[in-house]
Amino acid sequence: MVKAVVLGAAGGIGQPLSLLLKVSPLVDELALYDVVNSPGVAADLSHISSPAKVTGYLPKDDGLKNTLEGADVVVIPAGIPRKPGMTRDDLFKINAGIVRDLVTGVAKYCPKAFVLIISNPVNSTVPIAAEILKANNVFDPSRLFGVTTLDVVRASTFVAEITGVEDSRTIVVPVVGGHSGDTIVPLLSLAKPSVSIPADKLDGLVNRIQFGGDEVVKAKDGAGSATLSMAFAGFRFAEAVIKAVRGEKGIVEPSYVYLPGVPGGEEIAKAVGVDFFAVPVELGPNGVAKATNPFGLINEAEKKLLEVAIKGLKTNIDKGVEFASAEP
Ligand code: NAI
Repeated sequence: MVKAVVLGAAGGIGQPLSLLLKVSPLVDELALYDVVNSPGVAADLSHISSPAKVTGYLPKDDGLKNTLEGADVVVIPAGIPRKPGMTRDDLFKINAGIVRDLVTGVAKYCPKAFVLIISNPVNSTVPIAAEILKANNVFDPSRLFGVTTLDVVRASTFVAEITGVEDSRTIVVPVVGGHSGDTIVPLLSLAKPSVSIPADKLDGLVNRIQFGGDEVVKAKDGAGSATLSMAFAGFRFAEAVIKAVRGEKGIVEPSYVYLPGVPGGEEIAKAVGVDFFAVPVELGPNGVAKATNPFGLINEAEKKLLEVAIKGLKTNIDKGVEFASAEP
């Protein structure tokens, strides 16, 4: 039996993500939590003829506790999204506190759950979550994930557009680093099957993968950032975690994890010089089964991109850790 939870379920990402989880045959129970409208979203979804049982809670009457108790997978898209002109870092002030409070709930009510953080800035909110879990003595690095799947999805889509491949799902590009602007590093040289990008299109492609979110923010013109593509990506990652828990082997997805604490991660952490970093991880019954290190094979241009990413990540990670340590 799998109980999935969405915290921030009434939002732009939360609603379509909850829909996908409701219709998934892998989910038996779905609990939705938000500060507004979650009982309404739950009532709506509960009419869908799929097996998952849906409940919706608000903060009143121990809502967070009732949502989280017995949870196996907790997906967190709670928080404000970007408007034109904003970077993900601009969201820090508000979203840092939201993630801190929700993860405190996870530590109390479902410390063994897999925690999937979508709320931005992911580069900082995942370190916050780690610190909160640590402070509550329940941190298992193999169970905490920053969701960077949208970058991976965008990379497949944009590469397919340039190369003329019809089904973008057949292209797998490892995207490593973090989840904002130039901390996002697509390793196109390691794409499978290998792809040949015309030299005059390479920089533009890398830039589009790094800043693809801006296209959506601009097109939505003040109404938010990526929600539907993010719901797809968040569901894909949640489904991968659930499938691995159920025993499926060989599932690999990039994710932003605490490297020193996961199998195979310590050596990568030493190589990159930061503790939180997205790498392709092999998933297993206990979360991260193995972090994989692709850096030995990358080309010079990618090494340069990595240097820039690591610099940015250091600042983002420190900011998250400082926030979590400063707050009670
Ligand atoms: P939204 O504003 O439509 O929805 C956010 C929801 O969170 C709202 O329903 C709000 O009521 C709820 N919320 C606020 N405080 C809460 C709390 N304390 N407890 C529970 N729920 C709370 O925003 P949207 O578009 O769904 O984006 C959500 C987050 O996801 C943003 O931080 C955004 O930047 C991030 N995001 C992350 C991506 C990624 O690749 N990781 C991609 C796109 C967005």
